Amino acid sequence: MELKDIKVRYNIVGRDEKLNRALETAIKVARTDLSVLIQGESGVGKEVIPRIIHDNSLRKNKRYIAINCGSIPEGTIDSELFGHEKGSYTGAIAEREGYFGAADGGTLFLDEVGELPMTTQARLLRVLETGEYIRVGSDTPRKTNVRIVAATNVDIPKAIREGRFRQDLYYRLCTINIQMPPLRERGIDCVLLFKMFAMLTASKYHIPEPIRLSVEGEQALMGYKWPGNIRELKNVVEQMSILERGVQITPDILYKYGIIAGKGARYDVVVTDHSSEGSRSDMEKQISFLLSAVINLRKEVDELKLYIHGEHGHSTTVVSPPMLEGPAVIHNTYGDKESGTGMISTGTTPVIHVTTPLHSNTHQHIDDIVEVEEEESLNLAEIEKKYIIKALEKHRHNRKKAADELKISERTLYRKIQEYNLDI
Ligand SMILES: Nc1ncnc2c1ncn2[C@@H]1O[C@H](COP(=O)(O)OP(=O)(O)O)[C@@H](O)[C@H]1O
Ligand SMILES: [Mg+2]
Repeated sequence: MELKDIKVRYNIVGRDEKLNRALETAIKVARTDLSVLIQGESGVGKEVIPRIIHDNSLRKNKRYIAINCGSIPEGTIDSELFGHEKGSYTGAIAEREGYFGAADGGTLFLDEVGELPMTTQARLLRVLETGEYIRVGSDTPRKTNVRIVAATNVDIPKAIREGRFRQDLYYRLCTINIQMPPLRERGIDCVLLFKMFAMLTASKYHIPEPIRLSVEGEQALMGYKWPGNIRELKNVVEQMSILERGVQITPDILYKYGIIAGKGARYDVVVTDHSSEGSRSDMEKQISFLLSAVINLRKEVDELKLYIHGEHGHSTTVVSPPMLEGPAVIHNTYGDKESGTGMISTGTTPVIHVTTPLHSNTHQHIDDIVEVEEEESLNLAEIEKKYIIKALEKHRHNRKKAADELKISERTLYRKIQEYNLDI
């Protein structure tokens, strides 16, 4: 498949060189069985890569299973991945095949592979080296033929130095290394995404005209190194679409919303030569084409809003919120639902596709500009934090109960508590 077709098929907005290179590498290696490691910060779009690889491989009619290693409790991860024998531990009432067995002939996507416990890493290395694995509670090796694609936002060399990741496993996983660039290194893409989100928001709120960037606004955005990720950009464009409707977006407005940084030399003006980058109308066409395809983004936000505000204003009870990181399910947002690829859930409730926490420090920008009304709806990290606090309070800091209610693992809850400094 051509790069262009890949972008259309998988709703990928952007034409940054580094992004193109990542996508081209994925297409090139798809037909081999080499292990691939995708590295990049949170929210840069890593999850589309394994889909591209699988769908363009000879394994495409076999299973594709995506697992979020960070959300499976340490106690059960070996059994989930490698299966277990009946009676191998308390509660193991039936045998279990495990993902390595289930994905035989297909592709296994190990997301957040940097979160794997050391013991599991040893087992994983073994499968990669020998094609054999052993179920928990068994001593018979089983054969499996699985292609591994892994992703991480962890600095693995650092994790190796700190003794949290096996070096031999790292080498084994990254036979092919794909680096996903952050948005701050993708100037033009920031503009494309801005326009796409502006259109999405307009159609969602029945605003007749999407907000438009002035010429200077567009140049400023292109020259500014947006420090957040794609989700965060989406949030700000939404806010702006509502609060600035009908207004041309100038550098000053961008500045007000924290989209471009501080005073003085706050951005480099980049004069773009559109002739070398494809014509403007091509750009608009790409966006409007993608617009129809990415309509699912709207659904996510709608669902979120419903959870936050309830039907009648603010709700005080915790109502199974959409956690920003949660199930070991990676929804088939991308790709072809007819291709016969299977998704496996680890049993937690599948929720919306906003699955990664917002780590970046751009929250302050966002916080600065929210004006009471829109406040809660638009900062996903804040929403997540709020639900966690509510759940903890409701269950008097009983973490197990709170985690149950939030439908996340205790381990994830523990991490969130650390992340948000809720440890009281
Ligand atoms: N190039 C892109 N064009 C449009 N949407 C994108 C692009 N890259 C990522 N997204 C969207 O951004 C969000 C984050 O992507 P995701 O693959 O989950 O990031 P990661 O796994 O790297 O944290 C998703 O909702 C995805 O659909
Ligand atoms: Mg991810």
